[in-house]
Amino acid sequence: MKIPFNLPLRLGTEIQYLQEVIKRQKFSAEGYYSKLAAQKLQKIFSPTSRVHLTSSCTTAMEMAALLLDIKPDDEIIMPSFTHVGTANPFLRAGAEIVWCEIDARCMSIDPDKIEALITSRTKAIVAVHYAGIPCKIDEIRNICKNNGIYFIEDCAMAIGSTYKDRSVGTFGDLAVISFHETKNIHCGEGGAIVINNENMLDRSEILMNCGTNKNQFESGKTDHYSWISKSSNFKMSELQAAFLFPQLLELQKINNKRIDNWNSYYNSFSGIIPKDNLPFAPEFSKHNGHLFYIHTSSRRERDELIAFFKKNEIEAVFHYIPLHNAPIWDNSGVTLPITEHAAGTILRMPLYYDLSIDNIVLIAEKISEFYSEKRIENQLI
Ligand SMILES: Cc1ncc(COP(=O)(O)O)c(C=O)c1O
Repeated sequence: MKIPFNLPLRLGTEIQYLQEVIKRQKFSAEGYYSKLAAQKLQKIFSPTSRVHLTSSCTTAMEMAALLLDIKPDDEIIMPSFTHVGTANPFLRAGAEIVWCEIDARCMSIDPDKIEALITSRTKAIVAVHYAGIPCKIDEIRNICKNNGIYFIEDCAMAIGSTYKDRSVGTFGDLAVISFHETKNIHCGEGGAIVINNENMLDRSEILMNCGTNKNQFESGKTDHYSWISKSSNFKMSELQAAFLFPQLLELQKINNKRIDNWNSYYNSFSGIIPKDNLPFAPEFSKHNGHLFYIHTSSRRERDELIAFFKKNEIEAVFHYIPLHNAPIWDNSGVTLPITEHAAGTILRMPLYYDLSIDNIVLIAEKISEFYSEKRIENQLI
């Protein structure tokens, strides 16, 4: 039977929560489960932070761009090895995107390459915790502090990951999360923004209320509310929050199962693939088992392996195509050798909550078969 790359999570309990929404007849944002889900997320992050549920991680990043008051002269440093949703919101706000190289081991932005990119126009650094593995947070935070620039964590893949025993998403001025169906927990499409910088708390309420001071009106501080800021509708609906909430309650169990799967891959691939070609998770951090990838030695080998897997009904897939080379730039003139090499050689293995150990063993056998055949082929040439 075919092994897909992803099977979106279904605990089975979601339906009861959806039925409860229908019973309560409140479907838009800020309903019963929206509030519970936001509270639960707040506990995962920090009681002093504020969490707003959004319709996607991209809209959460749109809100981040508004909170930073991005202007056309601003520069934002970020990795090119990421999803367009990391960059689009800043580009739309008129900022210049400054692409930074990634660290060849952990695949996230390389702090040693950031400093040379900082100018008087740099407004923020956006770091992605690639594969749910925390990036070098301390180094990046120090750079931000020393240069008076904002730090944004793109935790799209990283819910539940920790850095030095503290949840990712609590270090940046702002952090964004994705609840797309490919993520550890999801609601089809969805996201959240975590506001850690207390100077942005009040404005975040206004932006979440479509640019109005509705919150002040609801808390009795004004007798009407008005449109006071440029904004949008970033909200997640109650139906999505109700689907997400039971998964949020089981986050630890879900992540533990994925981490078990990740470890099974790591152990069973260890005798077949050189250690340097397996994912690297530094000991000071704990990842959430979001993604398991291998580095192949060339694009050709990667594509042959994809085809070999396909023949064996296993769906393994490549990942980001570097954003700095995308057609939208009409040649950005930027060269990032590590990013470009990684994009051409990384291969992601099937990984989801219901994936069985038997299937991982089978995938390991197939990888072993592929490389044995390849060795024979190389000897024949
Ligand atoms: C690193 C990163 N940032 C942002 C996004 C965008 O997330 P969403 O689809 O929820 O907008 C993704 C999507 O997978 C992602 O991988």
